[in-house]
Amino acid sequence: MRAVVVDQPGGPEVLTVSEVADPRPGPGEVLLDVAATAVNRADTLQRRGMYPPPPGASEVLGLECSGTVAELGEGVTGWSVGDEVCALLAGGGYAERVAVPAGQLMAVPAGVDLVTAAGLAEVTCTVWSNVVMRAGLQAGETLLVHGGSGGIGSCAIQLAVALGARVATTAGGQESRDFCRELGAGLVVDYREQDFVEEVATFTEGRGVDVVLDNMGASYLPRNVQALATEGRIVVIGMQGGVKGELDLGVLLRKRASVHATSLRSRPVEEKAEICAAVVEHVWPLVADGRVRTFVEDMMPLEEAGRAHARMESGGHRGKIVLTVR
Ligand SMILES: NC(=O)c1ccc[n+]([C@@H]2O[C@H](COP(=O)([O-])OP(=O)(O)OC[C@H]3O[C@@H](n4cnc5c(N)ncnc54)[C@H](OP(=O)(O)O)[C@@H]3O)[C@@H](O)[C@H]2O)c1
Repeated sequence: MRAVVVDQPGGPEVLTVSEVADPRPGPGEVLLDVAATAVNRADTLQRRGMYPPPPGASEVLGLECSGTVAELGEGVTGWSVGDEVCALLAGGGYAERVAVPAGQLMAVPAGVDLVTAAGLAEVTCTVWSNVVMRAGLQAGETLLVHGGSGGIGSCAIQLAVALGARVATTAGGQESRDFCRELGAGLVVDYREQDFVEEVATFTEGRGVDVVLDNMGASYLPRNVQALATEGRIVVIGMQGGVKGELDLGVLLRKRASVHATSLRSRPVEEKAEICAAVVEHVWPLVADGRVRTFVEDMMPLEEAGRAHARMESGGHRGKIVLTVR
């Protein structure tokens, strides 16, 4: 099959399409004919040699895809050849075929075409598992989402609004900020020009935010803690601003607040299956009625994976970048 491989870590130009052996579905796995995959920031790190696949995962890039079921591995029930699905992957999506644990398949939600569905799994599973399952965001609470115009951010804004929360977000250029407002964010802070701590304090009348979904890590840690309300929860999911930050435990303690950090990719298969089931139960109805939409900034063929990575790394995109496979 054709797959995007990384022979040498480096820039977007190292991504080339090669012939590799087809994967085989093991017990409990399903083989998919991939229709499309989507680019995630983690793929750009893996390409640079900074985010190796977890043990046992495919070396091929790609954390999500959509496609049709081609073959069932031993013991798989509930799926049939020809079913249209999207899938959460530990790797292997930038290819014509991928083997996936059956619990990580989700039927394509009503009203979404198969190609667009390629960009649903990673963002919905990440946002639901962190904002709801981990941080327990409730209706009436306030969520601060950093990087609101990106893939994760745009999903988080819509999901939180659908759950009845107020949303504050940070974003870059004017178009990105307008996009976040259209998605339902009540406060949009220009991260290049404004101090989000001050803006969030005004937005919440001095109370602070209940939950922070953070993609920046170290560079935002002290300010995220400052921005928190009493009993607030920070969930760090990205380290675009570095890995080592300073945490004022005194402030954390006085606020009875908590800081979490999670990675979806390295979670055990059983936990991923639990997250996928929760997403199908709680998020798919919101996708089907249009309250949570996938915005595709750009769509290109698998052969242009390098251009897609360069597009993501240059910033300013809104929503997802999709790679069509067949
Ligand atoms: N832990 C997990 O399980 C997990 C799973 C999925 C994703 N992630 C992480 O989540 C993050 C988002 O992923 P993605 O795929 O959605 O990537 P993405 O689409 O590239 O989004 C990244 C966003 O960060 C914004 N940004 C850049 N500098 C910023 C700053 N100083 N302050 C606030 N925002 C800033 C970008 O805005 P501009 O367009 O203005 O540059 C962009 O909107 C990444 O860090 C990724 O690694 C983690």
